Amino acid sequence: MPYHRATLSTFLIDERRRTPSFDPELAGLIKDVEVACKYIASAVSRGRLVEEKASTKVNIQGEEQKPLDVIANEMVLQTCDSTEQLLGVVSEEMENPYPIQRGRNGRYLLVYDPLDGSSNLDLNVTVGSIFSVLRAPEGAQELKPEHFLQPGISQVAAGFTLYGPSVMLVLTLGRGVHGFTLDREVGTFILTHPDMRIPEETREFAINASNERFWEAPVRHYVEECKQGKSGPRGVDFNMRWIASMVAEVYRILIRGGLFMYPRDTKDPSKGGRLRLLYEANPMSLIVEQAGGASWTGRERILEVKPTALHQRIPVILGSRSEVERLVSYHHAYDQGEELSFKSPLFANRSIFHS
Ligand code: F6P
Repeated sequence: MPYHRATLSTFLIDERRRTPSFDPELAGLIKDVEVACKYIASAVSRGRLVEEKASTKVNIQGEEQKPLDVIANEMVLQTCDSTEQLLGVVSEEMENPYPIQRGRNGRYLLVYDPLDGSSNLDLNVTVGSIFSVLRAPEGAQELKPEHFLQPGISQVAAGFTLYGPSVMLVLTLGRGVHGFTLDREVGTFILTHPDMRIPEETREFAINASNERFWEAPVRHYVEECKQGKSGPRGVDFNMRWIASMVAEVYRILIRGGLFMYPRDTKDPSKGGRLRLLYEANPMSLIVEQAGGASWTGRERILEVKPTALHQRIPVILGSRSEVERLVSYHHAYDQGEELSFKSPLFANRSIFHS
């Protein structure tokens, strides 16, 4: 390994030099998150060997927890329990925020999804953790749920890890996106992907096509155009991808570009979407925007949405900027009552199939 490569620690020290306003307390907090992620990486790689030790239940999302969901959540709590910079944390796996006893003067809040994509754990595919850091309200000493209800634009840092063939940590401090690979032999994250940029030219899209009958017309229109390939209005062939693990999908978008969608649908109208605003959509949207991409619900820029509840769900359309803008324009046209000119009459807006 070339010894001169930056580690996550030296990157954070250099950040202070590059950006004098960068708070060293935030660096300390990121280091604690890094430690939690290393523990989780180790547990995930041991799979079944560690799973027997955890008891599970149905989480606040109404989803059955996997043993590793519980283990990963505990690992974050235990690692951050003495993080003085933190007033409190909230997790996708817990109903209520968790106050940090030693952080009564903490100036930050941590939001995290300890194990994203965990429904795939038994398949041994790539899963990960997602995290987001917010400022605690000035002078707040007692943690309240509403402290976390800040729009994504207020995030001071966001990132995710990938527990795949290699372990990676992707981080933004609001000034670009940087990827680090874990050198397991020395236990250190090394900067391997500085300044990640989402390619504009793309021929890939990702969506769970089994939900097609529940989609809105603009999404059906976009997907149909892609599927028509060279002979359709886009004039090129597209590939479709679906890993069912958002961390892996967003990493692919960072490397190859493309579009990832979990759009609004009519499958369960009581939910605002499939993905969680605080734990998934906001951190990923900051990362994608910082890498030159875009992230919308179809109608709103996700980072500007004011959350109303900790576990709120939201539609997500993110990726290469021009593709996101194209699909947002389809939503706009549809909402204005414009006809979307589908090649196939089956998909025609307000045709006999869509009254
Ligand atoms: O929200 C958890 C998650 O596993 C995401 O990582 C992923 O994008 C999505 O759910 C997969 O959903 P589905 O099971 O509907 O394909």
